[in-house]
Formats: sequence, C-alpha cells, structure tokens
Amino acid sequence: MKKIGVLTSGGDSPGMNAAVRAVVRTAIYHELEVIGIRHGYAGLMQGDFLLMDRSSVADIIHRGGTILLSARSQEFRTPEGRQRAYLQMKKVGIDGLIVIGGDGSFRGAQKLVEEFEFPVIGVPGTIDNDIACTDYSIGYDTAMNTIIDAINKVRDTATSHERTFVVETMGRNAGFLTLMSGLAGGAESILIPEKPTAVEDIIAKLKHGFSRGKLHSIILVAEGIGTEFKTNRDVHESPAFSLSKRIQDETGLETRVIILGHLQRGGSPTALDRILASRLGANAVELLIQGEAGKMVGMVHDDVVAVDIEYALSQKKELNEDIYNLANILSL
Ligand code: F6P
Repeated sequence: MKKIGVLTSGGDSPGMNAAVRAVVRTAIYHELEVIGIRHGYAGLMQGDFLLMDRSSVADIIHRGGTILLSARSQEFRTPEGRQRAYLQMKKVGIDGLIVIGGDGSFRGAQKLVEEFEFPVIGVPGTIDNDIACTDYSIGYDTAMNTIIDAINKVRDTATSHERTFVVETMGRNAGFLTLMSGLAGGAESILIPEKPTAVEDIIAKLKHGFSRGKLHSIILVAEGIGTEFKTNRDVHESPAFSLSKRIQDETGLETRVIILGHLQRGGSPTALDRILASRLGANAVELLIQGEAGKMVGMVHDDVVAVDIEYALSQKKELNEDIYNLANILSL
C-alpha cells in the first residue's frame, strides 16, 4: 500500500473533518501518500482529486461540515459509474480507499470491494447513528447537543406562553437521535418510528400534564414516524405539523411547530465526536496497511472494532428498550 484515497459521502456530519485529519496524518506518519477526493463518489468518478499533506488538514478539527465536500450520487449506483470510479483510482495509483459516511455510502464501498476486489474501509459518519456494529457514529453526539440546546431555548418561550411545542428532529427512518435527545432534553413525549404511538395517548398525557399545573409541553417527533398523523393526502406533509394540528383541534391547547432540519447537521463537533473521529479515522488507515478490505471500523464499549461492511449492513441496529421505557417513566 503506497497511496490511499479518502472521501466523505452522503449527508455530512460534525466530526467528518476530524476523521479526515486523522486519516491524512496517520497515513503520512506511515509514509503513505494521501489523495483527498472531493464531492464523494461523484468526485471519485470524475477524478476530482487533490494531494494532501499534514497542513491540508490543519485547523479543521473543530469545524463542522467536510472540507472534502459531500454528495449523494445516483450514477455511482450503476455498474458503469463504479467502473469509472475504479479506473480513476487506477489512473493515479490509489490502492486503498477510506469512505466516511452512512449506510448508503457503505453500500457503495461494498460494491467496489465485490466488483473490483478493491480495498475499501468504511468509517461511520452520520447524525442518525443507525449503523449496526458500532455504538456511535461520528456526528451523532454533536447533533444531540444541538437538539438539546434547541429544546432548552424552546422551553423558555413555551413556559412563558403556556404552550405546547412539537419539535421535529432528523434521523431518517431511525429514532436513535430523537430518543436520546428527548431523554436528555426532558421532552414530555417522544415519537419514533420504532414505537408507533396513538395520538390519543399523546393527547391524554398532555391534558394530564396541564391539569396538574404544567406550564408547557415539548413533544419530540422523529421525521420518520410515518403517516399516521397525516391530516391530508399530501405525502410530503411534515408529521410535526399534522400532529400539532390534531393536538390543537382536540385539546384547544396553543401549539407551535419547529422543524430543526439541517441545523442538526452543522456546528463544531463535540469533544466526544472529535475523539471518536480521530480514533476511527486512524484505525481505518491501520486496517488498509494490514491488508484488510471491506471492513467498517466502529466503537463498541470504548474499543475500536472492525467488522465486515457486508455484515454491518445486514444487521438492524436495535433501539434500547430500557432507555425508551425510562424516558416514558421520567416524563409522566
Ligand atoms: O442521514 C442524515 C440525514 O440528515 C437524515 O437524518 C435526513 O433524513 C437526511 O440526511 C436529509 O438528507 P438531505 O440533506 O439530502 O436532505
């Protein structure tokens, strides 16, 4: 192994830069050349490459986003697209690749391994924390803290006006981000795709809370909870707005909605995310040097582990039932 490539792909997450820094500096420490690939797989197909040195990753450990830029590429999903990507790497002599991203990015990585026997190592970077075989993915902790900060602020105004707030969080089809932020933020109700909740139960809980003198209520809703709260046939309608309307109609409580959206993906990474990114990024390089291919690095019980990407993708990350129950007990 003489020259490796590194790219960030899919939705960005805070800490990706710290991971890129760890990859570049670990590789240089081991006397490898490092090529940064811009715009994820799209840039890989186009040969959008830049030679990186220690100073190309100076002053980025604290920055959100990704200096390599990111993208979601449809073309890379085709065999022709992947062939182009492979040839671009061959052309400049890249003989190992590190992909920092979520499950979609890992699927692409796995294809490169299967179709070209190309050594690729995946580093989990997504605020959703929905990748199996790792306790945490890069960006998740920062996103939780962003959500908690938002909840704290909303709570102030909610109390002043004795209102109910429905706060919609990201997470795609998974509820990890919402559940943990809800527990840490003291939300009154937490709605996640893994645990369908009847709107009647939410309303009963709300009424009970206000009847015993509560001044506000915060309901955290994962964007992926599905369609059960939809009030019309518009499939794009946000679940938060639908739920809010039903609460207001059925209780008369003044209700407001906040969609936190992409602000959850930005910001300076927390210490935990920087440490996670540094450890995983460095380990990914070590794996390539050891001749591994098709592995994902993860963190389990504070140990760095490596598992087959194929295996990780075949597993569904399970929600911690005890934490879900605890959140419910504490918010009664
Ligand atoms: O996977 C990260 C994520 O932020 C999800 O939580 C969200 O559903 C999705 O990406 C949004 O994607 P985009 O940035 O393409 O709108």
